[in-house]
Order: sequence, then C-alpha cells, then structure tokens
Amino acid sequence: MRTRPPPGQSPEPLEADIARILLHRDQIDRRVRALAADIAAVYSRDDIGLTLVPILSGAIIFLADLIRCLPLRMKIALVQISTYPGARTTPGDPQTVLALSGDVGGRHVLLVDDILDSGRTLRRVQALIRERRPRSLRTAVLLRKPARAPADVPVEFVGFDVEDQFVVGYGLDYNDLYRNYPHVGVLHPELMP
Ligand code: IMP
Ligand code: MG
Repeated sequence: MRTRPPPGQSPEPLEADIARILLHRDQIDRRVRALAADIAAVYSRDDIGLTLVPILSGAIIFLADLIRCLPLRMKIALVQISTYPGARTTPGDPQTVLALSGDVGGRHVLLVDDILDSGRTLRRVQALIRERRPRSLRTAVLLRKPARAPADVPVEFVGFDVEDQFVVGYGLDYNDLYRNYPHVGVLHPELMP
C-alpha cells in the first residue's frame, strides 16, 4: 500500500486523498433542489415566522445551497456542536461550542445538519430548541446512515441514505479538513488511522 502524508500535509491536490466518490456534486445538487421543493411546500402552508438552525460547521455548504432554493422569508440562528473533536472517526460526547443564537421561541424552526449518524448531536440540539418553545420543530439532513439512526430522533427531510462508513466533502470533515471538497467521498483508509 502506498504511504501518504497525513491529511493537510500532502503536496498533492485535495482529490488525491479521496479513494471513492459516493455522491457526485451534480447528484447532490438535484437532490437539494428536490428537498427544497418539499420543504417549501410544507412551510408555505404555515403563516411563516421561519427560522433555520444549521448545526455548524458541517451544515454550512448544505445550508448555503438549500436556502438559495427556498423562496421563503427566513431567519437564521446558529449553533455549533463538536462531535468528532480532532482526528476521530468515532463520536465523542457532543460538545456545545457556540450556544444557540437568534430567534426560535414561538417560531417554526427547521434544524439543518449534514448527517444523521448515531443521532446524539441532533437529539441534543432538538432538546435545546424545544426548551425555547418553538411553534414547530422539523429537521433536515443531507445524509443519513440508516443502519445507525435511532427511532427517537425525528428527521422529516433526508437527502440520501448512505452506507455506514466515514465520509467527507460538501461540508463534512475529517480533522476539520475536506469540507470544501465538492462531492461526498471516502478517504483513502491509510489517512484515517
Ligand atoms: P451523530 O451525533 O453521531 O449523529 O453525528 C452527527 C455529527 O457527526 C454530524 O453533524 C457530523 O458533523 C459528524 N459526522 C457523523 N458521521 C460523519 C461522517 O461520516 N463524516 C464526517 N462527519 C460525520
Ligand atoms: Mg456536524
């Protein structure tokens, strides 16, 4: 097996670290547009007061693409949670890095995250939002690992179900890298000890 410099230290382009593309950017783009249509249909029936809550940092790319397909008035409130501190691919306890900012009490809240894996992150943030008494709470994720997703974490909008393996790109990171990789892919295994 070819040895590779650790992530972030390779002179090769970013793509050289990716073993396999799981979802191409064009496929993601089409699915995000379809999701946005589903979401717009639900909220156009409500008399709005919508706040989107992306979970930083993984949700940034999904959020940016999704909201530009949503012709709705909305506010955005941020929360930052860290589940995989540093070079880990097994989850630790979700840590709140940045407390929830912005208006959610009495509003329709759509929580946005990159991926539903064990569900610990979303369980925690959903509880946090419910404490603020929103008018409604729904959740959208780009990816879900159905093998692991728990029954007690409701998610109304799902982009893709994916295999239970660690993925990067389109906002998802390994050791805070690869978020800007435009597709969703799997790293070469020797880069993830
Ligand atoms: P959960 O709490 O186990 O559901 O994990 C959710 C969070 O962990 C997500 O918001 C992601 O940021 C991160 N995560 C889970 N699986 C992956 C993965 O395959 N690649 C990158 N990040 C992941
Ligand atoms: Mg995340």
